[in-house]
Formats: sequence, C-alpha cells, structure tokens
Amino acid sequence: MFVSDLLKGKRILITGGGSGLGKSTAKRLLQLGAEIVICGRRVALLEETSAELRAATGGVIGYKPLDIRDPEAVEATIAEIWAEAPLDGLINNAAGNFLARTEDLSHRALDAVVAIVLHGTAYMTLACGKRWIADKHPGNVLSIVTTYAWTGSAYVVPSVMGKAAVLAMTRSLAVEWGPKGIRFNAIAPGPFPTEGAWERLVPRKDLAETFETRNALGRPGRHEELTNLVAYLMADQSAYITGEVVTIDGAEWLTGAGQFNFARSLTDADWAEMASRKK
Ligand code: HXC
Repeated sequence: MFVSDLLKGKRILITGGGSGLGKSTAKRLLQLGAEIVICGRRVALLEETSAELRAATGGVIGYKPLDIRDPEAVEATIAEIWAEAPLDGLINNAAGNFLARTEDLSHRALDAVVAIVLHGTAYMTLACGKRWIADKHPGNVLSIVTTYAWTGSAYVVPSVMGKAAVLAMTRSLAVEWGPKGIRFNAIAPGPFPTEGAWERLVPRKDLAETFETRNALGRPGRHEELTNLVAYLMADQSAYITGEVVTIDGAEWLTGAGQFNFARSLTDADWAEMASRKK
C-alpha cells in the first residue's frame, strides 16, 4: 500500500525488536527503505533476527543489546547509536506483562512490569528527546499502548498502569516538544497474536479463540495491518498527526463497552419476537 522508498533516509530504533510485533515492524519498515536498529535483552535473538531480516529485505539493520529498565545502559546505548548517526524515530514497543490476580502480586512483580512499560519507555524517550532538542533535529516517537490504557482491565493491573502513563506521556510531550519538531503518537492494538504475549496472557487454548474473535470483525489482527499503520505514522506524510492514539482492534473495546451490544447474539426469531411487541 506504500511506495517502496516511503521511509528512505529514516533511521529508526525499535525496542523489543528481536521478536513478536517489534520484529514484524522492523521487517515492514526495512521493506519501505528505513534503516533499523533493534534492541532487547537477548543478544542471540537480536543477532538472529537482524541476520534474518537483512537477508529477507536487503535492508540496513543493526542491533544493540539493552535492558531498557537500566537508565545508565539506556544512556550509554543511545550515545553509542548517536555516535554512529542520529536517529529520526523511536518506536517504544518493548513491554512486559502477565496475567495474574492483583492480590497475588508482590511489589517485585509490580515493579517488573512497570519498570519495562513505564520507566523503560520514559528513559528511551528522554535519551532520544534530549539529543533531538540539542541537535535541533526533528524526531518522531511512536509508543505501542493498548485499549486498556483508558478502559482499564482486570488481571493485568501493572501493565494497565504503565500503558496509561505512556499514553499520558504521549499527549503531554506532543504539546511540550511539538514546537521543537518532535511528534508523539501511540497505537492501541487489539489481539495481534504473538508467541510471547499469548504464552503470558492466554491461560487455555479455548480462551485464545474467544480472545481473538471477541470483536466486531470476529478475527484477530494480522501483523501487516499493524505494521502498515506504524509505517504511516513514521512517515513524513502523517506529519500533522501528533498527540494521537490510533486504535487498531476490530472494534474490540467498543464491542465490550456498548450497553446493548449483547443483542449481537439475538437470533432472527428473537428479533421477530421483539418486533411483535410493537403497539
Ligand atoms: C505473578 C509473577 C509472574 C506471574 C513473574 N512474576 N511472573 N508474579 N504471576 N505470571 C513475579 C516474580 O515472581 C517476581 O516476584 C517478579 O515478578 C519478577 O520476576 P522475574 O521473572 O525476575 O522478572 P523478569 O525476569 O524481570 O521478567 C519480567 C517479566 C517477564 C515482565 C515478568 O514476563 C518478561 O520479561 N516479559 C517480557 C515480554 C512480555 O511480557 N511480553 C508480553 C507483552 S504483551 P518475586 O516477588 O517472586 O521476586 C503486552 C500487551 C498486552 O504488554 C496486550 C495484549 C492484547
């Protein structure tokens, strides 16, 4: 759906780019001509993914081992990346999450998730933002959140708190750093299956199907649907969009929210019976 050099000349860092949606995003942006750097905790995986995507796309991709929960490591890694060449974009994709009853969480469990989702995202954003401002270089930050950043959700409370904060950061910095040429957007994906997330969030096979089809379109998202949206938001053609969150979930959250949406399960006979009640 895009011209092949849409992102030519753009150098973009993707956190958690070694696997899952981060990897799919890296592949799509490489196909569109971007130069990609991926970071994550697992060096072997980063190496394997960069080799695979380089071979598949012929694009330029590098990697940096990094745990975004460590602010000093973030600063050192971003300095290293900038010494090679400044970035044009940052995609805050790395996340941590698991399904648990909140009363069962230790403070370390809470911290494990919030440290990745909120602190890690903020450290990355600050490290890049300060450099863009100092260099008077335009910047583009895209953060992957979820629809429960505003609806809330039971059983994933640390992630809810972290994602809500990232959305608040997105809206706040869009205003504060907009005049400095840095824009901020977020994407709220619905069910886009990945091994890592499903292993941590979907306890049983029968629930996976419910999770994936409980939306107006009755199906899970396809990775390319998400990665094309990322490409659009990272491209100069969307330059006037900032401070926005784009939901891509097949109307999943609205399906759960509308008071009378239960009527989706009514049969023709039920509707005929309702009609017969007309005075
Ligand atoms: C309760 C748990 C737990 C679980 C870990 N803990 N898993 N508590 N239920 N399932 C507790 C541990 O007991 C420990 O507390 C504390 O959390 C830290 O655990 P560690 O294993 O040492 O943490 P760490 O190695 O830092 O791993 C972080 C992690 C892990 C978040 C727990 O899952 C991870 O690395 N995840 C990264 C990838 C990921 O989560 N991807 C999915 C993102 S999906 P104690 O007190 O025992 O020391 C997403 C969007 C969802 O975010 C939207 C879908 C539609």
